[in-house]
Amino acid sequence: MLNKYNKNTLFEFAADVSRGLGDKNKQLSPKYFYDDVGSKLFEKICIQPEYYPTRIEYDIIKTNLKNITKELDLPLSLVELGSGNSKKTFLLLENFAQLQKPFAYYFPIDVSHKILHESSNLLSTVINNLKIHYIHDDFFNGLKIANDYIKNKQNLAIPENKLVIFLGSSIGNFEPEQAKSFLLNIRKNLKTSDYFLIGFDLQKDQYVIENAYNDKNGITAMFNLNILNRINKELGGNFNLDFFEHRAFYNNKENRIEMHLVSKLDQYVYIKYIDKSFHFRKNETIHTENSYKYTQKQIEDISKDAGFTIKQLFFDKNNWFVLSLLKPI
Ligand code: SAH
Ligand code: AVI
Repeated sequence: MLNKYNKNTLFEFAADVSRGLGDKNKQLSPKYFYDDVGSKLFEKICIQPEYYPTRIEYDIIKTNLKNITKELDLPLSLVELGSGNSKKTFLLLENFAQLQKPFAYYFPIDVSHKILHESSNLLSTVINNLKIHYIHDDFFNGLKIANDYIKNKQNLAIPENKLVIFLGSSIGNFEPEQAKSFLLNIRKNLKTSDYFLIGFDLQKDQYVIENAYNDKNGITAMFNLNILNRINKELGGNFNLDFFEHRAFYNNKENRIEMHLVSKLDQYVYIKYIDKSFHFRKNETIHTENSYKYTQKQIEDISKDAGFTIKQLFFDKNNWFVLSLLKPI
């Protein structure tokens, strides 16, 4: 591991919770879903039959492995933002490991330590000539750490050009303006000889999308509710999870799925760490996540505005999801 995630994170979590629950429209950031339990629940979401993005993105990578690699000038160091369990990345890494001798290099970055540690261990045992330097940090600190490590390489074999990847349509969890500045920021951290591969979930029949966030097994509901559990565990909150329920619906005007936690009754919740009580009216909601769905035109515009050219777009057969290979200009 290249660093230790700094300890201000609990303080920041407390400040965000205090601000978010104090808002007129109560909200919490989706980045707080991913504690150890949340990361495990997300892995389970990914294998629910209704949750199509993971399955489709996996298939796109598998089907286009050769075409993707053909577009790349190897050797490259692979850097992944929000790597999670790295299951889809495994396909790329296996391919890189065959093509790059003696070693391929992987820098997974994630705020969730356990899954990062476990998936890195697993990958290094199944792919023999893979060197992994995992980075427990947020996207941009992580990318800077990877950049510095590659630049000041002690080990001459580490390729100085990078393929940065951002899978799962995580870009959709940003507000459109944030997504734009996110891409601009990525661009600033890349050279023209680097590449950026990013997954976008596309607009489609709204019932398909709504089903994906309302799986029959209730895993997405558990994932959503777990954010309250995290507040209880880390900040001494007294949320009763039975008094809240999961709600996810498609907002047609904004082209996004919205996830909320609905208070089933009039209640107060106390959070010890910040020594505050919050009042919830019956049916009042905490807005926990947006997941924006894109059009091809929006992807083209946002990529261009951020200083990228599109090398190639890889779609599935139904045009539900697209993997976009970008080159900094
Ligand atoms: N890329 C994986 C995981 C997507 S889930 C996939 O496609 O399946 C989003 C991942 O991003 C989680 O593992 C979460 O812990 C991580 N994450 C969320 N916010 C982050 C941030 N600000 N910095 C780094 N990682 C983050
Ligand atoms: C990580 N992210 C892209 C997921 C999504 O689909 O927006 C998170 C998620 N939320 C509920 N289900 C999955």
